[in-house]
Amino acid sequence: MSDNLAASPLLSVENLKVHFAIRAGVFQRQVGEVKAVDGVSFSIGAGETLGLVGESGCGKSTTGLALMGLVKATDGRIAMQGAEDVTAMRSVPRAHRRRMQIIFQDPFSSLNPRQRIRDIIRAPLDIHGIGTTEERRAEVAKLISLVGLRPDQADNFPHQFSGGQRQRIGIARALALKPDIIVCDEPVSALDVSVQAQILNLLADLQRELGLSYLFISHDLGVVEHVSHRVAVMYLGRIVETGPKKAIFSKPLHPYSELLLRSAPSHDPHRRHQFSAVSDDIPSATKKPSGCAFHTRCPLATDICRRIEPQLEVKADGQFVACHHR
Ligand SMILES: Nc1ncnc2c1ncn2[C@@H]1O[C@H](COP(=O)(O)OP(=O)(O)OP(=O)(O)O)[C@@H](O)[C@H]1O
Ligand code: SF4
Ligand SMILES: [Mg+2]
Repeated sequence: MSDNLAASPLLSVENLKVHFAIRAGVFQRQVGEVKAVDGVSFSIGAGETLGLVGESGCGKSTTGLALMGLVKATDGRIAMQGAEDVTAMRSVPRAHRRRMQIIFQDPFSSLNPRQRIRDIIRAPLDIHGIGTTEERRAEVAKLISLVGLRPDQADNFPHQFSGGQRQRIGIARALALKPDIIVCDEPVSALDVSVQAQILNLLADLQRELGLSYLFISHDLGVVEHVSHRVAVMYLGRIVETGPKKAIFSKPLHPYSELLLRSAPSHDPHRRHQFSAVSDDIPSATKKPSGCAFHTRCPLATDICRRIEPQLEVKADGQFVACHHR
């Protein structure tokens, strides 16, 4: 395993691959493959936030879903401290599932519109048979106040809440099983900037109080710089650079990271910077270029780049880069 590790990792991911078959025709024959995640390794320490950034379609969400066991990994190894190793996530043990939860960009789509929020938040406790009815009721009340909602809102339905409040409900539900890690997949991308700040502050408070770790997925550089301790930059299913947040933002070494940062004029969290600002032709995960997948866009590309895929190597304190020329 490469050494791009947190000091004492809570979660270790090694060579994770998720390949989707592309099928066509009446017989649904496989005509190709999408290498959505293609050999990703990283770790997250207790109480740490790893920001995962990259353009649309680079495999960020698929990475998060594979960790959760919500899509099947093709290959790789996912291990949690103190838990049995989980190989290829083919059968996710319950203990593991409880320790990792996910929140999404659009909580509304994952909240049952016909359920009151007290029932939504209690559902994980019911499913896992945790506590007595009375204990569950008390736990739900605690969670509602922990995420900054009022007790009298417990009987309301999702449509009675604003976008930010719905994200708070999603967070409360994710916290019900007392996870160690939360995968946050674009948790504030659908919210107004002022509401974004409130949700980011809530996540930071919860991290401090509960010692939570986050895999924070976003294509918004400002937000990632604001929340992360370490950052991993993804390009077409691979991590091309990872390191401490400060190093990545002040001295990116991979030509792709440089391109992203150059295309984001300011890192002010109150301004949104979309990776779509990178306007070159973007090769897709279905037709990955040979060697270094970035060579079709890289100003430094040479022959070796077209032939051999570079591996992550340490270049500075905790900063790992996959590039033949850096
Ligand atoms: N179930 C699926 N079947 C086939 N291809 C898929 C599936 N899910 C994702 N993909 C493809 O895998 C690649 C990675 O998708 P993914 O959603 O992980 O990207 P992302 O980095 O989260 O992008 P975005 O920033 O737009 O959310 C894309 O090419 C996508 O089209
Ligand atoms: S390996 Fe080559 S093509 Fe890839 S980023 Fe480095 S210089 Fe560019
Ligand atoms: Mg996504």
